[in-house]
Amino acid sequence: MDDGSPHTGQAHRDVSLTINGKRQVVPIPPWTTLLDLLRGPLKLTGTKKGCDHGQCGACTVLIDGERINSCLKFAVTLKGSEITTIEGIGSQDHLHPMQAAFVEHDAFQCGYCTPGQICSAIGLLTEGHAHSREDIRELMSGNLCRCGAYTNIADAIEEAQQGSASVSYKEAAE
Ligand code: FES
Ligand code: FES
Repeated sequence: MDDGSPHTGQAHRDVSLTINGKRQVVPIPPWTTLLDLLRGPLKLTGTKKGCDHGQCGACTVLIDGERINSCLKFAVTLKGSEITTIEGIGSQDHLHPMQAAFVEHDAFQCGYCTPGQICSAIGLLTEGHAHSREDIRELMSGNLCRCGAYTNIADAIEEAQQGSASVSYKEAAE
């Protein structure tokens, strides 16, 4: 089992978490980050590993609705928390409005940063501190995009903020 740990032969602990609405109990070494738990034992690989040091935002998920870099959180500290990853946001047929806005505005190129961008953008709107495009750019500055899609990402978030993005996955694919 790939738990992302550099250690071997040491005790595992059961961690109980609710992920995308489903309660999970997983035995892991106590130093396992949430990111490595998601991508390893739980096989939720939509959450990406970029820097693994809190610098890029690729690993952003929502914990109790708050956007968090999952590479910086030990999973064992999150007992009882509600965690939402990109797999728990929208569906193939009914995209979350933020996902729909990203599609409408071509707010990605390679897509590697996109799950983190979308989780972060949803958290941003929940926080309610973005009152201008400049605020959006500033408050999204922890999510890097190597492809430089920043203008389109800001366009998408502005549209989602205005509540006008609602295309389905099928419509977006046409
Ligand atoms: S992988 Fe977590 S911030 Fe870069
Ligand atoms: S779309 Fe490629 S890193 Fe952002």
